[in-house]
Amino acid sequence: MMSEKEYATPFPILQAASLLSHRTRIQKFRQAITKIVKSDHHVIELGTGSGILAILAARQGARVTAIDANAESLKYARAAAERNGVAKKIEFIHSNFSDFEPEEKADVVLCEMLSSVMLIEQQIPASRYAVKHFLKPNGRIIPQEVKLFVIPVQNEILWNRFNIEDLKFPRIPQTAEREQSIDLADLQELEKISLTKVSDQPMSIDKHLNFEIVQSGTVHGILGMFESKLYEDITLTMDDGWRELFMPLPESVDVKAGTKLDVRVSFRPGEYDSLNIEIE
Ligand SMILES: C[S@@+](CC[C@H](N)C(=O)[O-])C[C@H]1O[C@@H](n2cnc3c(N)ncnc32)[C@H](O)[C@@H]1O
Repeated sequence: MMSEKEYATPFPILQAASLLSHRTRIQKFRQAITKIVKSDHHVIELGTGSGILAILAARQGARVTAIDANAESLKYARAAAERNGVAKKIEFIHSNFSDFEPEEKADVVLCEMLSSVMLIEQQIPASRYAVKHFLKPNGRIIPQEVKLFVIPVQNEILWNRFNIEDLKFPRIPQTAEREQSIDLADLQELEKISLTKVSDQPMSIDKHLNFEIVQSGTVHGILGMFESKLYEDITLTMDDGWRELFMPLPESVDVKAGTKLDVRVSFRPGEYDSLNIEIE
């Protein structure tokens, strides 16, 4: 098995800064941080990017240790902390989460590495690692839970992206524009994952789903999305700044309204090349 290090998904700083425009995402994190983080807390943030969540925690008066795998982002986050008058409250560290050894455990861990079905980014491995290695026994992690959903779709554009005149490329997952896809069945929950549990094992998802086809068409793939509970009733949805992930089938399948479609979806979250989708 590959190590987490090889699956690290460090964002370029331009991408990390672009997340500043997802205002409802930031407002929801701000609400959760305001409710949970106290001035005597030590907060560890994994994947600080622009520094926004670390800065919000420092504004609560907490001491913050913020890490990121991208050195350029840390430079930017440091400058942002200075501008906001909290530079003395935050220690920025250049590290992969799995190499990080904190001197002091955290009352609160912040980790926003969410992606449409948790296939690409390190939310699940990073959160599990943090709960085991960085969090105090009564500490809290934000987000606390993710629910994954999938739906079989027709998407000619992403299906055909990989055929260029006489050239053919292997099909891999791609982020999708919602209006490109035609939903051929109702949404189903793929998995509900608690992020507060201690575990050393890499997590695996392996689900058989039975869809009732509501519209005739051609299934090109499965569209994946999520919902994530930050704290109590504060929940992030795709509308807070994410795009769905189109996961292509090995072969397209023609379906008729009123029939059933059995799909098996398996992958290890954070390991993009572990995905396997089968029509049964
Ligand atoms: C989605 S961004 C979130 C940035 C920021 N926390 C925010 O809310 O805007 C995820 C960040 O995690 C960092 N990251 C990804 N994989 C990582 C890893 N394995 N170890 C440490 N940082 C990582 C990326 O470089 C990126 O800055």
